[in-house]
Amino acid sequence: MMSKRGPWILVAGLTLFAAGCHTDMWVQPREEAQMESQFFADGAASRPPVLGTVAVGSVRDDEVFFTGRQNGQLVREMPTRQAMEALNVATYRAFLNKGRERFNIYCAPCHGQVGDGEGMIAQRGLNLRRPPGNYHTDRLREMPDGHFYDVITNGFGVMFSYASRVEPAERWAIVAYIRALQLSQSADPNMVPPQERERLDAPAPTNAPHGDTGH
Ligand code: HEC
Repeated sequence: MMSKRGPWILVAGLTLFAAGCHTDMWVQPREEAQMESQFFADGAASRPPVLGTVAVGSVRDDEVFFTGRQNGQLVREMPTRQAMEALNVATYRAFLNKGRERFNIYCAPCHGQVGDGEGMIAQRGLNLRRPPGNYHTDRLREMPDGHFYDVITNGFGVMFSYASRVEPAERWAIVAYIRALQLSQSADPNMVPPQERERLDAPAPTNAPHGDTGH
């Protein structure tokens, strides 16, 4: 049977044993990220990247794609091919669908689903100093594609920039969708194929939930 002092002797033995170990392999003079340092002149352990460093894959040398401008001038036509490649969509329809999805998330709350500036926020939320733009004016219909990209990227007047939430390729998809909205709101009925024309006179679909006939 172990004596009452047994456990204490064991603890003391283990302590001596541990104290004899060399810990210098893992206790080394090294710096932890974000900590103070006596070593570097600026007193910070973390080093800033060398000036001009660009992470792999993040070179932004395509002026048109990333700024919507060429030699400082807003581009008339968007870089559709690059945007579709970046979004990995094969058809223009899929590109527009992407634009519609992003538009309905980020823009429709203020600008409305058809872009008339009558979004929910404009109707009953924020008391905006200036109302959200209506896209269906001659001025905006004639604006170059680059203008819309520029507004999303840098904001416009009281509108905040959406650059942190909408990727460049998605911004172009939104621009394409805004162009489709502009066309849809000022289209000539003769543009509709004859076999589809009678549907123009059909009653507009209601917003009633599916299966609810209102009776
Ligand atoms: C929080 C509300 C809000 C959201 C969300 C919003 N906007 Fe705006 N937008 C505004 C307001 C307000 C103006 C008018 C700004 C002014 O005239 O100072 C405006 C103006 C514009 C204009 C007109 C610029 C001009 O030349 O007159 C465009 C184009 C536009 N927005 C595009 C977008 C797009 C695209 C999105 C989505 C990525 C978006 N906006 C999201 C509030 C919003």
